[in-house]
Amino acid sequence: MDDIEASHAQLLSELSTAIDTADNLDTLEAIRVAELGKKGRITGMMKELGKLEGDARKTAGQSLNKLKTAIAASLEDRKDAMAGAELNARLMEERVDVSLPARPQTQGFIHPVSQTIDEVVAILGEMGFSVAEGPDVEDDWHNFTALNIPPDHPARQEHDTFYLPGGNPDDPEERHVLRTHTSPVQIRTMQNQEPPIRIIVPGRTYRCDYDATHSPMFHQIEGLVVDKATHMGHLKGCLIEFCRAFFGVDDLPVRFRPSYFPFTEPSAEVDIGCTREGGGLRIGHGDDWLEILGSGMVNPKVLENCGIDSTIYQGFAFGLGIERLAMLKYGIPDLRTFYESDLRWLRHYGFSALHTPSMVGGLER
Ligand code: PHE
Repeated sequence: MDDIEASHAQLLSELSTAIDTADNLDTLEAIRVAELGKKGRITGMMKELGKLEGDARKTAGQSLNKLKTAIAASLEDRKDAMAGAELNARLMEERVDVSLPARPQTQGFIHPVSQTIDEVVAILGEMGFSVAEGPDVEDDWHNFTALNIPPDHPARQEHDTFYLPGGNPDDPEERHVLRTHTSPVQIRTMQNQEPPIRIIVPGRTYRCDYDATHSPMFHQIEGLVVDKATHMGHLKGCLIEFCRAFFGVDDLPVRFRPSYFPFTEPSAEVDIGCTREGGGLRIGHGDDWLEILGSGMVNPKVLENCGIDSTIYQGFAFGLGIERLAMLKYGIPDLRTFYESDLRWLRHYGFSALHTPSMVGGLER
């Protein structure tokens, strides 16, 4: 080995030690600049090669190139090793202890409307209902006509319903309305699905109303069952079970009071037992009744309007107001506060985002 090669080998061994003991990327970069940078030592030595002659220049050039490649490679290796070590250190530090209990939640709550929808869906989902949806902007036919709602029905009046521009001006049944109830989804489902049908429909509904118990936008959940042998006993069993589960009172008194809806026949309003003694309202036993939902056997005319043979199929339907259920269950006195986006209200009446209502895990927490 001639002198040049020996001195290169010596240099490489010195630099390798420096590189291998460097403990951060900055030190490595400093070494790279000092040796291989534009004004670096090795770069300078490359420039000096020009002064040598013939064979000497060739040998020195080859040796210098080898040195350069070796330094670059050892810088790369060290860099990789550092990245690996850093990753390992981070993995050690960020190790998750999955046995820790969840930290108490201080921000972000589930709104009582969402909570109540989730609770109702948990109860009725368990009974075999699946969730269906429909548009908020309906047409007159789905919202009224198909549901056997006569032209002079109060719900059809301009001052009760929000009508929108659009639709076909020559055909009143194509007039656009903000749906006044979730019942048009009964129609859409029966048009598109063969019985047996078992759906619930949570969604927004709209009416020209505004006071402590009415808001122009509110939420309902519709229920619809259609099958060959569905009867009033199924309606009663389903709704009694629902009321008891929702309010968490196993023997809650439930009463079916004859009523009228154009789309059901017979129709029944459902009341639950309560007491108003001592000023406040308590759900459960008492000598008073509180109306909570509307229901009935699907009117055969409605089945026929959807192309379902009413001599083969029958069914029941119900509709309930979400805000009303939430107000009763959680003691919220004024409906308007649901939509004021007041964080203090939400912190008070809101629910943990970490808990999803279910029949096994419990409805609320
Ligand atoms: N759509 C009715 C309402 O909004 C409720 C209802 C639904 C009644 C289904 C009977 C059957 O008042």
